[in-house]
Amino acid sequence: MITKHNDLFHLTTRNSSYVIHQSNFLQNLYWGGKIHGEDLSYFVKQRSHSSFDANINLERDEYHFWNSYSYLESCLKVNYADTRKLDMVYLEHSIETVNKDMERLTFRFKNSYSDLYVNLIYEVYEEYDMISRRAEIQNEGEEVILENLRSASVSLPKLDQYRVKYLTGKWAGESQMNDHYLTTGAFAIQSRSGNTGPHYNPSFALDNGSADETSGEVWFGLLGYSSNWQIIFEKTIYNNVKITGGISNFDFSYRLRKGESISTPVMTFGYSSAGYGQMSRKLHSFEVDHIFPRRKLGRVLYNSWEATLFDVRVDSQKELAKRAAQIGVELFVIDDGWFGQRHSDRAGLGDWYVNKEKFPKGLGELIDYVKSLGMDFGIWVEPEAVNPDSDLYRAHPDWIYRFKDQEPLQARNQYTLNISKKEVKEFILEFMTDLLSKHQDITFVKWDMNKSLTDVSCGDTAQDKELWYKHAEALYEIWATLRQKFPHVDFEVCSGGGARIDLGILQYADQCWPSDNTDAYERLFIQEGFSYFYAPRIMTAWVTDASSHTPNKYERPYSYRFHSSMMGGLGIGANISKFSDEVLAEFKKYIELYKEIRETVQYGKLYRLSSVRESTLHAVEYISQDDQDVLVFAFRQGYQFGKEMPNLKLQGLDPEALYQLEGEEKQLHGSTLMRVGLETDLSGDFDSRLLRLKRIH
Ligand code: DGJ
Repeated sequence: MITKHNDLFHLTTRNSSYVIHQSNFLQNLYWGGKIHGEDLSYFVKQRSHSSFDANINLERDEYHFWNSYSYLESCLKVNYADTRKLDMVYLEHSIETVNKDMERLTFRFKNSYSDLYVNLIYEVYEEYDMISRRAEIQNEGEEVILENLRSASVSLPKLDQYRVKYLTGKWAGESQMNDHYLTTGAFAIQSRSGNTGPHYNPSFALDNGSADETSGEVWFGLLGYSSNWQIIFEKTIYNNVKITGGISNFDFSYRLRKGESISTPVMTFGYSSAGYGQMSRKLHSFEVDHIFPRRKLGRVLYNSWEATLFDVRVDSQKELAKRAAQIGVELFVIDDGWFGQRHSDRAGLGDWYVNKEKFPKGLGELIDYVKSLGMDFGIWVEPEAVNPDSDLYRAHPDWIYRFKDQEPLQARNQYTLNISKKEVKEFILEFMTDLLSKHQDITFVKWDMNKSLTDVSCGDTAQDKELWYKHAEALYEIWATLRQKFPHVDFEVCSGGGARIDLGILQYADQCWPSDNTDAYERLFIQEGFSYFYAPRIMTAWVTDASSHTPNKYERPYSYRFHSSMMGGLGIGANISKFSDEVLAEFKKYIELYKEIRETVQYGKLYRLSSVRESTLHAVEYISQDDQDVLVFAFRQGYQFGKEMPNLKLQGLDPEALYQLEGEEKQLHGSTLMRVGLETDLSGDFDSRLLRLKRIH
């Protein structure tokens, strides 16, 4: 609910209050547990200290326009032909109910020196305790260059200390949870690689250092943006903490001509009064209801990558498909290697015609075979990149990012296409349209991207600094067009694993590939980090052979591999054509089991019971939306002789309800399961269990 009392705006959600004082700027007075916002009129004071600290209230400014009297990170900085002065004057506000879940508050400002308008937009999702924010810059006057363009700033209440939790990563090691305690100064997480990650993810949570999974106040935020971004946490000497996020200033500027406008990426903020577990559950349901393109059960897929790498041939794929169907796979996906002269990562990328040697009768033969086995068909593409050794590059060397007359950097033997160029965008849309219309039985596309952006130039220095932004815009536009043209196709976002996971691209993606690291144990770390901010529905996890990237690894038992992969969208990536009937039967059994429980995994409520980062016991619980089914995945890593495992204390149950543990006689009350817990009976190294409970009454 959005209410106004004199100059105070009170944004109330089910459990939180967000109070803004409006004068010529918007000052955050409060964000936290629910209060009577109108009381805060007594707290509005002018604070200054000296000519150096002329307006301390600006430290809590909701959107700081550069050159007002504060030197913290600003949200908007401009450059006119003859001035950089920006004097934004508050004009008006509006409040509207957009739908049953969301109300919108818009503040409008105008530059007193020009016809430049800024709308600051707050969308309040009451039931989710979340507020999404963005800014729209509208230019009705002379041309202006934007040099700094952020989505929002947000301030925290004063706490004794501030702990930031955030995800860091690298290829094959994404989504690792980190803690950082703020000291006076600035701390930033960011991407400068033209992609979302993998080094940091645009998501964070803050608390006073004592919140845990079940208790304590947590403030959190996510930026939905798939190009260069930055989130800066500033703690001032007055102990104000301000978090500013949006497009990175790095190598950025944007020309806004008369009549044009630009909208920033959306930054969503939320509050949890009951620790990190509640934060994640709020986020998961918000994403499912308001970000992801549709609500649909994820299919059990097979992916060819780890089995055949680039050697994707009709016969070997048929063999894999036969086995995949036998074990209950629903979607058979061929990965890299089916097109052009793509026999390795050195050639062929960009040549999106079917390789005749590998598929003499075209793709149709395999697709028909897969369909005849009762499975759906999916395919891999990497449309944003090109190998120098490709027909596409030979025909259009000017389509890639490069500085004039200079050789661009290569990684994985590829360059990146300037997809903001009209002809490149058209090329991608044409070949994808051709592929998906000729083969209407393709119902899944894995869209990969294996090189960070470098040499981001179109040879025109005036436009170069817009390209990072335009790349993401073009990407979103292409995905939106394809989704609209091919509504029966699911899209998976992948960037060498999890380098492109954010709420921007996830508006168009049905699922994502979180990491190329498919080792079931290492995945527990990655999946746990992921689960803090993103819903399990979209987290694809394959059961593979012993990790193909680290060959000397100890082979995890199949049960352990399946349990680890069943915690998200289950896939199989192992070379199943080599497996004995006995192993295949085991796979079949697990896939059947997964199908029984997937609704609860993909759309249930997730509770992290014990973390692999802190304990030899790792356990995650999922409760179905109707509270009838409870699943617990429990893993024991190293066995220590004689060391007893702690009981597994469940969460989120009805204390008075009775629950029946599958395969056992005993019925236990929710209170017992939560306070005394279950014995896990895990023994030996890399043991795991899936415990299933049903609520009886
Ligand atoms: C990187 C992806 O993460 C892998 O799953 C696979 O698709 C390869 N690219 C193919 O080149």
